[in-house]
Amino acid sequence: MSEIKNIPVHVSIIMDGNGRWAAERGKERVAGHFEGVESVRASVKASVEAGVKYLSLFAFSEENWNRPEAEVMTLMELMLRSMENEIDTFVEQGIRFVVLGNRARLSDKLNAMIDNSMQRTQDGQTLTVIVFLSYSGKWDILQAATRLAKQCAQDPSKLESITPETFSSLLVTADFPDPDLIIRTSGESRLSNYLLWQGAYSEFYFTPVLWPDFRRDEYFKALESYSKRDRRYGKVK
Ligand code: IPE
Ligand code: IPE
Ligand code: MG
Repeated sequence: MSEIKNIPVHVSIIMDGNGRWAAERGKERVAGHFEGVESVRASVKASVEAGVKYLSLFAFSEENWNRPEAEVMTLMELMLRSMENEIDTFVEQGIRFVVLGNRARLSDKLNAMIDNSMQRTQDGQTLTVIVFLSYSGKWDILQAATRLAKQCAQDPSKLESITPETFSSLLVTADFPDPDLIIRTSGESRLSNYLLWQGAYSEFYFTPVLWPDFRRDEYFKALESYSKRDRRYGKVK
């Protein structure tokens, strides 16, 4: 068990470095994606152990559609298979499973599996696992802005009452708290169009560890680092 005080409510991870992990071993990129699934399992387990309530995972960005078709297909296949394999365990353990992103770009088969998995786990109270799939921050902000524009066209009085909170309620993340901690693996220090709005006051943790090597100990190191941060939100003590 961890002794760490100040556990973040919502931990979000940009899971990066699968391709490099595979390349280091003279393997195909997909071998890194397969091994990365084990790190997802480890992070879910560690989140439950630590008492984190929301774990979100950036699994596939809108930009990732521009990768070679074979890699995209493998990643989608892996998503499908992981849901098939894990959902029973999630139901047993009270883990709620949610997918957020541009669902219109996903196949009917994958969407059906996502709907089924979300429906079966909807009452989970222990941990909520959010997978961002075909997601990008700019896409999210634009879909919210488009919906808001439509509402205002119908009812111009709405223009007077737009606040950060009302805007947040139009983002796909409306039902969930903003991430307290955003972890990125593989040594890249960028957001890659992830939670642009929701990450406004997140703490960041960048580690050189590649995603397939990011397991329990690395996860707890990130929590340890977070526990020492002083979140000021622009104020003075
Ligand atoms: C992260 O690993 C997985 C996805 C983005 C889908 P990468 O596939 O980006 O691995 P690197 O960055 O090429 O090593
Ligand atoms: C970010 O990783 C997206 C995900 C982890 C899903 P990328 O590997 O796609 O990001 P860039 O291209 O290095 O910025
Ligand atoms: Mg990458």
